[in-house]
Amino acid sequence: MALISSLVLAALVALTVQVFYFSPIDPVSLEIPFSVSSTKNNQLQSVIKLGEGFLKQPEDVCVDKDGVLYTATRDGWIKRMVRNENWENWKHVDSSSLLGITTSKDGGLIVCDTTLGLLKVTEDGFSVILSQVNGSQLIFADDIIEASDGNIYFSVPSTKFGLHNWYLDVLEARPHGQLLRYNPLSNETVIVLDHLAFANGVALSKDEDYLVVCETWKFRCLKHWLKGINKGKTEIFIENLPAGPDNINLAPDGSFWIALIQVTSERMGFVHTSKVSKYLVALFPRLVNMINSVTKSAMVVKVTTEGNIIKKFGDNDGKKITFVTSAVEFEDNLYLGSLNTDFVGKFPLQNA
Ligand SMILES: *[C@@H]1O[C@H](CO)[C@@H](O)[C@H](O)[C@H]1NC(C)=O
Ligand SMILES: *[C@@H]1O[C@H](CO)[C@@H](O)[C@H](O)[C@H]1NC(C)=O
Repeated sequence: MALISSLVLAALVALTVQVFYFSPIDPVSLEIPFSVSSTKNNQLQSVIKLGEGFLKQPEDVCVDKDGVLYTATRDGWIKRMVRNENWENWKHVDSSSLLGITTSKDGGLIVCDTTLGLLKVTEDGFSVILSQVNGSQLIFADDIIEASDGNIYFSVPSTKFGLHNWYLDVLEARPHGQLLRYNPLSNETVIVLDHLAFANGVALSKDEDYLVVCETWKFRCLKHWLKGINKGKTEIFIENLPAGPDNINLAPDGSFWIALIQVTSERMGFVHTSKVSKYLVALFPRLVNMINSVTKSAMVVKVTTEGNIIKKFGDNDGKKITFVTSAVEFEDNLYLGSLNTDFVGKFPLQNA
């Protein structure tokens, strides 16, 4: 009996040491602000599926000046759709981790890859434009925007956890994200904002006098001034969003579309305020799938330059589209990227 008790005790001690000492995370508590409004919004269930079956997890979308729609897929393709709605494989990158894409003024696209860094993709193929920052490999570049002065702003959600462990960053709830600026002329990269809570989408205002960066697990976006009397200052653009902001894109009228992801279900909210639960979840990746609710619903919001939500469309039941990661408005349609679909969603805005 004594032997068994000692063995059990030893096992418990070993397990505790294992859980706490070797844990990949060093967590703090995180309050998840659940929005009180429980009104269901399923308007996104009317999306038209573009390129269904052809587009593997098209995370981000962008449209060039000729109206050609681009997306980057999990199998390393930059695919595009010309106005006739036929998709084509455009350029291939040897990668399975392409994320944010944006058009570049001198033609082609600039693309984030979480292993190679920042890429330029043109008719001639792709080239790496930035792979190292301060002598270390740039990992987990996420979203990107090019300013008219040539500067490239991009986000790194976490300098501690990679794309495949992104949820550990949410569990740890310590801000490891950065917003960086790369100047192609001087070949210099500087930190614009540090210690962000999962720095995700980046957008420039219409006049490029400020940029907005999303902090996913803080349910807010920051506004950072680039010009004018407030130049260099940072303030809150919008907070207490009904879910975690992913990508953000400028709308033609100067407001912004933000895709929101459900990083946790209401039922599992307690995990984020309990360190012990966090240690346990970090130990068993299967538990992450129970808590993280990104694949259960979809939501996008339109936010004015003042930071007020003026439109909200969702697929709360996740019937047609889930895990919408980006929303781009073009000619009265909203184009939706997702990490959980094999199509790009097209949502007509005219009657919405
Ligand atoms: C730019 O800087 C990186 C290191 O930061 C260096 O490896 C690379 O060779 C430089 N490129 C040019 C064109 O100077
Ligand atoms: C590079 O390292 C220096 C010295 O630690 C630091 O001041 C600077 O912010 C770093 N830059 C980037 C882009 O990480």
